[in-house]
Amino acid sequence: MNLPKVYVTRQIPKQGLDLLRQAAEVEVNPDDAPVPRERLLEIIKDCQGVIGLLTERIDAEFFDAAPNLKGYANYAVGFDNIDVPEATRRGLPVTNTPDVLTNATAECAWSLLFGVARRVVEADAVMRSGSWAGWGPMQFIGGDVTGKTLGIVGAGRIGTAMARMSRGFDMPVLYTSSSGRRNETLDKELNARLVSFEELLEESDFISLHAPLNPGTRHLFGADAFKRMKRTAYIINTARGPVIDEQALLEALKAGEIAGAGLDVYENEPALTPGLAELANVVLLPHIGSGTESSRTDMSMLAARNMLAMLKGHKPETCLNP
Ligand code: DGY
Repeated sequence: MNLPKVYVTRQIPKQGLDLLRQAAEVEVNPDDAPVPRERLLEIIKDCQGVIGLLTERIDAEFFDAAPNLKGYANYAVGFDNIDVPEATRRGLPVTNTPDVLTNATAECAWSLLFGVARRVVEADAVMRSGSWAGWGPMQFIGGDVTGKTLGIVGAGRIGTAMARMSRGFDMPVLYTSSSGRRNETLDKELNARLVSFEELLEESDFISLHAPLNPGTRHLFGADAFKRMKRTAYIINTARGPVIDEQALLEALKAGEIAGAGLDVYENEPALTPGLAELANVVLLPHIGSGTESSRTDMSMLAARNMLAMLKGHKPETCLNP
């Protein structure tokens, strides 16, 4: 019996691949780098399924190159790389991996929050350099966290998890909502306040971004937003880089308009805006929000289950098409 052919654009945890291999012939990109576009379009021409990453553009050109495709599974919760309306027009299901990475990503946002507020990376560098001369009362003085106001932009799954984790730090929580809908969990559990974007900017001590990237959120944080923030405030981004205008952030950080930034995502990954890495008041991570053992394993299993369902013509668990 001929098994359907599935291409996986990057090595992902074995558990998902093993599951997939029970009912598909699976080919995995052996390189630890994205497959060049031309090569990808060539490979997928006889594939029934593709599992890909946020680095792949899943658009009309992609679908045209894969006439036998029964579905595409994103190994990510964010899906700004997929033209969902185009897939839907073609009757092709496309999926993502929500829920399984919620806590991992929220925890990553907290690690950035503490990292930048308590100057962990700067202090670590001094220890490694061998230049520390002993305890000093004026060394590495950072920002407080307990009791400070946390502003959540994008109170979906990950934003909600981030906010709930603030309970131990007695932080008043503010959030915005693009739909204007209240988040009942945050309202009930944390007495959180739904506020306007401007109020959130002006009142928050920490702003954590969890909104998806779309035309309404691209460059949501630009020069005007940074000017409205407190000079003592920090911005944390584990969502998508282009939600921040990175050049404007660089200027705001240099001018002391805000206190610092903790970033896991960038406007033009893998490139950084020149000058950003030279600043002491930023903590920079290489897009590792979902990078825990269990999250990445669960993402591979969910992507595989979605793919197997699509190959059978069944509705996948986490389908993005309306
Ligand atoms: C996502 O899932 O969208 C992350 O950016 C990668 O895990």
